[in-house]
Amino acid sequence: MPLVAANWKMNPNNLDDALDLVRGVMAVARGQADRVEVAIFPPFPWLTAVSDLLVDSGVKLGAQNVFWEMAGAYTGEVSPPMVKALCQWVIVGHSERRLHLGETDDMVARKTAAALSCELGVIMCVGELADHYDAGTSDQVVSAQVRAALARCSADDSARLVIAYEPVWAIGSGRNADPEHAYKTMRLIRKIVGEMIGAGAARKVRILYGGSVKADNVQSYVELPLCDGVLVGGASLDADEFAHIVKVTSEVYGHR
Ligand code: 13P
Repeated sequence: MPLVAANWKMNPNNLDDALDLVRGVMAVARGQADRVEVAIFPPFPWLTAVSDLLVDSGVKLGAQNVFWEMAGAYTGEVSPPMVKALCQWVIVGHSERRLHLGETDDMVARKTAAALSCELGVIMCVGELADHYDAGTSDQVVSAQVRAALARCSADDSARLVIAYEPVWAIGSGRNADPEHAYKTMRLIRKIVGEMIGAGAARKVRILYGGSVKADNVQSYVELPLCDGVLVGGASLDADEFAHIVKVTSEVYGHR
């Protein structure tokens, strides 16, 4: 089933706005649960209230980050069991964390393995910078990120593992990737999954595209044969725009 994931990043700044947005998403997702999986990723402080609101809605909840240890003296961090208490999903290795917080491939690998071991679904993000894209080295960069992250994964994890291909130059820029480029990179990612954790896993792992996904371009990604959905940033903060993205995804996969 396709996955449409809403990464709210560090928005909105008050709980009332967050809950209004959740109500909008619940209205969209109603009746779609057997055609598309919808997951929202609010900031940590809103997770409890959002989780209460989502009961029986079919909409899944996720956190935007997690630490790799299960408990202990790690000021400011949130453990996988804490996330698991409220959420079904977690995002790891987002490029904004790699860029602003210095997350390395090794940290991303540890986080991925720790979250999977707690039965969380993991959206692990990879993507090249503009310089790599311009230099034609996207494949090498993405391949190294995927290989590093999968180093601690096994075939048993594949049903709960999602890899989001988000070219960094496409994030928040309005410059979405050419679908052909996205397709080629997704094909590469699936090939690496197959090499590292087996052919069965390569079929099961879902691969998303992210980076300036909007209502008017989502179709060009979700209709790609290897694409299992989208990871949406800015457009997920507008309930109507997000509704459109969910509907298009549901229709495209309904016709497959
Ligand atoms: P935008 O959709 O705002 O480009 O963000 C994409 C993203 O980073 C989702 O994780």
